[in-house]
Amino acid sequence: MDAFSVFGNPINHSQSPRIYALFSGEIGLSHSYARMLSPIEGEIFEKMLHQFFNMGGLGANITLPFKERAYALCNQLTKRAALAGTVNTIKKQMDGLLLGDNTDGIGLLNDLQRLNLLKQDSRVLLVGAGGAAKGVILPLLDYGCTVVLTNRTFARAKALEKYYQDSGDIIALPLPCLNTPDYDIIINATSTGIKGTIPPLSTSIITPEVYCYDMFYQEGDTPFLKWCHQQGARFCSDGLGMLVEQAASSFLFWHNIMPSVLPVLKTLRLELTQRSK
Ligand code: ATR
Repeated sequence: MDAFSVFGNPINHSQSPRIYALFSGEIGLSHSYARMLSPIEGEIFEKMLHQFFNMGGLGANITLPFKERAYALCNQLTKRAALAGTVNTIKKQMDGLLLGDNTDGIGLLNDLQRLNLLKQDSRVLLVGAGGAAKGVILPLLDYGCTVVLTNRTFARAKALEKYYQDSGDIIALPLPCLNTPDYDIIINATSTGIKGTIPPLSTSIITPEVYCYDMFYQEGDTPFLKWCHQQGARFCSDGLGMLVEQAASSFLFWHNIMPSVLPVLKTLRLELTQRSK
């Protein structure tokens, strides 16, 4: 049995096994890591996860759409997971209890810093109000950014505004109200990319200067970044860097060693480009 695994649905495109193989190769650590496809219905995810840990699993990554359910089943939470309300990394502790962490926020922040994008007064438009968005709001606010939150279902964005209102400068606005180019960074945290679609944003928010960041990645440009390019955006990045950064922080959480991010990101980018040819 593999000691580490990623749980999600869908899961077969997950790059996590490759990333951890590269990290552990660099550090010289034996690190078996598998993909687990869990059905969404009922409580099968919870049963599979407990079974994995009962049979010797040491650590798990949790991806779409289970991050909120993972939060609910952990025995203990790190501060950042408790504040995010979602879990993407679990560690089985010596006493058998499951400790949940969330490395998405630090992953995004590290990637935005790598791209030299983030300023303490950046005005960030965050599109989406699901698990992916929730994981990154607090780190952005803590950094000093103003966060404007929007979502197809406005009530979900409004609920997050309320939840985080004492943590920093955050406001929820309905999608139809976003008609002016007021943002330094626009982050797509919706799950639209998986379906090959984009969130219904007005073209008037895109300028040549705004930085467009998609948490999603794929072989070639994502649908959101294609759309941003078409509207004249010059600076775009997909979420591959965030993926590698959050995995590096998960690796640190499990093994107390921080692996190198840049060589792994370079290798993955090359592999993705070669696959899209
Ligand atoms: P995740 O954990 O990846 O965030 P999620 O909790 O299901 O998954 O959230 C998905 C996000 O993508 C939500 O913000 C969702 O909007 P709703 O709250 O209105 O459902 C957004 N989303 C999904 N499909 C969308 C679409 N076609 N257009 C706009 N937003 C979409």
